[in-house]
Amino acid sequence: MGNPKSTILNRNYLKLRHKISKELESLNYPDSKRISGEIAQFIVTNYDTESHYETTSEKILARLEKKEPWEYIRGWAEFCGLKFKVNRDVLIPRIETEQLVEMAIQRAETSRATRLIDIGTGSGCIIISICKKLAPSENRNLKKSENIERKLQFLATDISEPALKIAHHNARLNSAEEIQFIKSDLLSDVPEDIIRTDTIFLANLPYIPTKVYNQLDKSVKNFEPKMALQGGSDGLKHYKKLLSQITKKRILPDSLFIEIDPVLINSFTKAFPKARLHKDFRGKRRFASWIWSQ
Ligand SMILES: C[S@@+](CC[C@H](N)C(=O)[O-])C[C@H]1O[C@@H](n2cnc3c(N)ncnc32)[C@H](O)[C@@H]1O
Repeated sequence: MGNPKSTILNRNYLKLRHKISKELESLNYPDSKRISGEIAQFIVTNYDTESHYETTSEKILARLEKKEPWEYIRGWAEFCGLKFKVNRDVLIPRIETEQLVEMAIQRAETSRATRLIDIGTGSGCIIISICKKLAPSENRNLKKSENIERKLQFLATDISEPALKIAHHNARLNSAEEIQFIKSDLLSDVPEDIIRTDTIFLANLPYIPTKVYNQLDKSVKNFEPKMALQGGSDGLKHYKKLLSQITKKRILPDSLFIEIDPVLINSFTKAFPKARLHKDFRGKRRFASWIWSQ
């Protein structure tokens, strides 16, 4: 028999979950089974009394009905197995982006890179996840390699001050405080000497074309920051500018890894014929890379 407290919690949790699940189903809410469990868990963890359970679940359901994403209501999202604070100043990290993290880690492990820079960091999810994996104390792969003494540096930029605040918070939350954050319009305010042949760049910049943005689902358009989504008339505005900034530099970096919209692949390959394309776990060409150092 479990202890009385956990029995009480479980009973409340189950009751709440069933009630929330039914209501979400009646709203045709996607993924209602998973979300109902997370909501019930959130409520029983943060509130004590049945009257609070009732009022809180009603408030949450009303917000969900208006299409507010659950992650903003709860205040955090999960990415690469880590917890990230999110609010309406930052994009909610997407599962597909975890693959970008993997690609950069692989490059860091197989090259002589000493620095990783995430452009348009948002919640900081990419650079923090990489830092957690590659920082010396946790980096088993690099310790085994000949680059045993190699110290990696981690930097991230964003044009949005409120987003950088959240990214800072998340770096503290995940004990990744060695990451340096810089407010910059792409590379405009990044010091020149940071870009060296052993620098890996990564970016998941806004890539939704203006026309498509206007037709996005309310849950995205009404809640996630426009600045994190809109990529100009062809969706490629930021990447065109970033590539031109990089290739104009005196020294080319080691490499660049980016996330793109698979729907834009034809115009992307026209604009960037030298980019190498990579498929996501659904088989869609969602990533591109440039390797300048061999
Ligand atoms: C698609 S979101 C990605 C956020 C995060 N990297 C992720 O993958 O979840 C794009 C981010 O780029 C930032 N951004 C937009 N324009 C920028 C610019 N010109 N220079 C730097 N960052 C920019 C936005 O503020 C936003 O945080």
